[in-house]
Amino acid sequence: MLVLSRRQVQAAVTMSEAIDVCEKTLIEIASGQARVPVRTQIPVKEQSVSLFMPGYLPGIRGLGIKVVSVFPENPARGRATIHAVVIMLDAETGVPEAAMEGGYLTALRTGAASGVATRHLARPDASVAAVFGAGVQGRTQLEAVSAVRPIGEARVFDVRPDVRDAYIKEMSQQLPGVRLVPAATPEAAVRGADVIITATTSTRPVFDGNGLAPGTHVNAIGAFTPTMREIDATTVTRARDTGVVAVDTLAGVLEEAGDILAPLEAGLIRREDLVEVGAIAAGRAPGRRSDGAITVYKGVGTAALDVAVGQLIVARAREKGLGSRLELLD
Ligand SMILES: NC(=O)c1ccc[n+]([C@@H]2O[C@H](COP(=O)([O-])OP(=O)(O)OC[C@H]3O[C@@H](n4cnc5c(N)ncnc54)[C@H](O)[C@@H]3O)[C@@H](O)[C@H]2O)c1
Repeated sequence: MLVLSRRQVQAAVTMSEAIDVCEKTLIEIASGQARVPVRTQIPVKEQSVSLFMPGYLPGIRGLGIKVVSVFPENPARGRATIHAVVIMLDAETGVPEAAMEGGYLTALRTGAASGVATRHLARPDASVAAVFGAGVQGRTQLEAVSAVRPIGEARVFDVRPDVRDAYIKEMSQQLPGVRLVPAATPEAAVRGADVIITATTSTRPVFDGNGLAPGTHVNAIGAFTPTMREIDATTVTRARDTGVVAVDTLAGVLEEAGDILAPLEAGLIRREDLVEVGAIAAGRAPGRRSDGAITVYKGVGTAALDVAVGQLIVARAREKGLGSRLELLD
């Protein structure tokens, strides 16, 4: 079995490669081919959960599972919120063929899925981004958005100014073409932004949807339980009325996404208002209607994306000679 550390996973694939494979996978999901049961969530304590996420993609013969823990109290203990491992199996024989660090893979594929949504929904000239949540996901979200749109400025808002400042320092080096600026308030971050990213652990909406300028695209990926929220009902209904409310998977979002479930339960939107982003990418559903449309992408994550990116990482790691071998059956 091939074993890959975080650094080896990072060296194996680029964000652009991940965006392309996630686009194909989101199309496969929307066409009903991916075999992905809704993940099993085990609440461990308070807000801390471990998720067991298996998936099979017949199109690329990708078979695997991710085990991921989301422990929001970890940063206070000096540890990352998310830890994960991905195990890939040979789809012909069922034999385990690789195990890899899954925290970076998670951030990579979550960023890449937002990259797909941004590619199909943001205005082509979108140049100003606003990032809510300067954590692990906030990094790959901005990287992905910058890979598909000419982003020249990114405003950053986090409830922890020290975390925000560390993010600005690091991302300024990683994305030299993007001017990163701190935002003092959510309103200042949103005002005039073309693409908004929410990647927080918040349980309440992080900005007021009335402040969105016409033409804005929102990627909301932080909230993944019915009680978590990042975007308010105004944002969702404005997108429904002027543009589109896209999701990664209907099944996952209708099970888990507080951002969508709250306005749905309040009768403000209907299930028919939601469309899978893969249907838009495949040209089977309309995307942005006009320059003034507000568009929303809500992602809760799916094992299909982990398996697709995991499969690509294994292939690239073999080509590049990365990783170490472990004999399970010695
Ligand atoms: N949709 C998906 O596929 C997917 C994938 C991975 C992670 N996530 C979720 O994304 C969220 C972020 O994950 P992470 O790994 O980046 O965590 P993280 O702890 O590294 O970062 C979260 C950041 O959000 C900040 N924050 C919290 N409340 C805020 C608010 N109201 N306004 C602004 N900033 C706020 C925190 O201070 C922290 O810096 C988690 O809830 C995680 O479960 C979703």
